[in-house]
Amino acid sequence: MTAPGIVPQGESGSAELSALRAQFPIIAGHPELAYLDSAATAQKPQAVLDAVQAYLTTTNANAGRGTYTWANRTTALVEETRDRVKGFLGDPDPAESAVHFTSGTTEGLRAVARDWLPRLLADGDEIVVPVADHQANISPWLEARQQLSGQGVRVRVLPMPYQQASGDYDHTALASLAGPHTRFVAVTHVHHVYGGNMNIHRIREAVGPDAVICLDAAQSVGHLPVSVAELDVDFVVFSGHKAMALPGSGALWARQARGPAFAPGGWPGTPNTVGIASLHAALDWLEAAGPDRIERWTVALAARLTDRLRHLDAYEILGCRTSVAAGSPVQQRQGIVTFRHRDIDSGDLGFILFSHGFMVRSDGHCQGGAGEKADSVRVSLHVYNSMEEIDRLLSVLATLG
Ligand code: ALA
Repeated sequence: MTAPGIVPQGESGSAELSALRAQFPIIAGHPELAYLDSAATAQKPQAVLDAVQAYLTTTNANAGRGTYTWANRTTALVEETRDRVKGFLGDPDPAESAVHFTSGTTEGLRAVARDWLPRLLADGDEIVVPVADHQANISPWLEARQQLSGQGVRVRVLPMPYQQASGDYDHTALASLAGPHTRFVAVTHVHHVYGGNMNIHRIREAVGPDAVICLDAAQSVGHLPVSVAELDVDFVVFSGHKAMALPGSGALWARQARGPAFAPGGWPGTPNTVGIASLHAALDWLEAAGPDRIERWTVALAARLTDRLRHLDAYEILGCRTSVAAGSPVQQRQGIVTFRHRDIDSGDLGFILFSHGFMVRSDGHCQGGAGEKADSVRVSLHVYNSMEEIDRLLSVLATLG
């Protein structure tokens, strides 16, 4: 693979940032545009495009079936990518975990709800559902509960408490809610609207050592270090396309310590081999770039945007109003900043911003019903974004104030 350039630590226009942006053909090919929608999907480096081309032109075959070279190489690629995912997640005990390939986070969470949760839960158990997170991390748990209820197994839903001012979970309130019957807790690592790192170690403290925690890592894998050893979670689910791999790829990592082993039920036979090839290359690229350095850069970009935007009276920032929350356990806003204009509809603001070359998401962001009631504009960043893009965006936003 092509070694990534050094993640820029300095100002925009630096040689490092230019070299890094040059590795993303779609970014380098459109200097007039600023892609600020990486939480929806990330752009792909040339190394991933090359891996896809190489796989399809040298190796393409089905996995786990033939005995000829291409088939054997494809089977090996799938197995190596499982190990790659475990390594990328800092799995301390790979012999005791499993990686399943999915089409993305939504399918991964649904698989846990469909194929595993009913085997864990008994009458009277409780599950914690993050009701202001992404819909994909809410509806599968409610549907599983509904299905169990039809079988006479009553499961109580504990709505995850939030601190409205910061967008973080309210870990103290959660500790009061959770008890010995709290068996399963669904959480999100980085909130897709509020942008905060949700302090997962505090979730474990709140719910105790025996509850099973399922982590939606859609907005964290590739953006910051994700270590299953440090987080002490049991499932990690993420999408390949948000981690610079192809759409339709994704992974579900499952530890088998706190319940029955996860065994996927209804998945079709042929894996998305080209997606898996892209995921392997993307994780290689991200690891070489350094998730810790990617985090430092995107946090710095988001901090500049947040800390200047909050001085523009026309805008309301959702979640934490500053880059580092005061009086909240959220340590740091990651590379997501979501806001509204007091007078301009968010959809209109999205169009206005695109007329200036900025690509953002402007809608309700598929947030669950306990979240925001009105649409907003979301700026989401990755390693290829520059301070210059942030400053240009701020200038345009200021003219609309
Ligand atoms: N789930 C993706 C997002 O938050 C699509 O934009």
